[in-house]
Amino acid sequence: MNEIKIFSPATVANVACGFDVLGFALKEVGDTMYVRKSDKRGINITQIEGFNLSKNTFENVAGVSALAMLESLDINHGFDIRIDKKIKPGSGIGSSSASAAGSVFAMNELLNRPFSKDKLVEFAMKGEAVASQSEHADNVAPAIYGGITFVKSTDPLEILPLPVPEALFAVIIHPLIEVKTSESRALLPSSVDLSLAVQHSANLGGLVHALHTNNYELIRSSLNDLLIEPHRAKLIPYFSQIKSTMLKSGALGCGISGSGPSVFALCNGEDIAERILENLTKDLSNASFEFDVYSSSINNRGIIIL
Ligand code: HSE
Repeated sequence: MNEIKIFSPATVANVACGFDVLGFALKEVGDTMYVRKSDKRGINITQIEGFNLSKNTFENVAGVSALAMLESLDINHGFDIRIDKKIKPGSGIGSSSASAAGSVFAMNELLNRPFSKDKLVEFAMKGEAVASQSEHADNVAPAIYGGITFVKSTDPLEILPLPVPEALFAVIIHPLIEVKTSESRALLPSSVDLSLAVQHSANLGGLVHALHTNNYELIRSSLNDLLIEPHRAKLIPYFSQIKSTMLKSGALGCGISGSGPSVFALCNGEDIAERILENLTKDLSNASFEFDVYSSSINNRGIIIL
């Protein structure tokens, strides 16, 4: 195989109570990427459709992760990468991660899988770091593993895939403004109050247990972001109204998706997801900003070959 076409999914990081450690992949939203072996050594980004992003291999996240992989290889050829970008950069649903993870996943397939999923996450984190100035794995891990992932540690890397309750659905609302992860991270304090840390770890433990036991009510009581949301909410127009519409429509919980500006909700079943979508559209019909809304089941496969 010399050429491959893949779907690399959008992802929701943090998931309210899991800052930098929890994430899940979406089924319906993602980028398409084409990667082929080339006689020329190195990584060449040949084309990017959809958004105006740098094709410089050393600046583009897909190029940087690909170069990190290339450094671990002893091969006499290179790779050409073409990206059909559907996930808007700076949207908070893992746009950079989809590119960073997609290039290394595709190259690994073309090379007959010399690297493990964990190793791919490590390469992808190098690309992610270019976009966010921080090496976190809560977007790239679910993109590569699929489902819901827990990043127990980044050094050494330890990813724990979590069970996904069958009826779990996600709703995303994306205000069409750009928030840079690096700027959103700069708003965060370097230390937190002990009592908040205690409540935060109780919620995180509760959510992980709820996923293992299919306990939707425990998901509901655990999906709270006490640490991060108070600092980032101001970046997101109509945030409290969005939350209140999601919750009154039956969401189990909601919060900022990644570093924003997208907001996610999780719910039990597609019917409730549809109701949340309808009510968001209705309640925000007079809002002074444009937004996209969509729902998706959880993508249990991660990146797939098309
Ligand atoms: N955990 C990251 C953050 C996700 O919230 O900054 C964004 O890439």
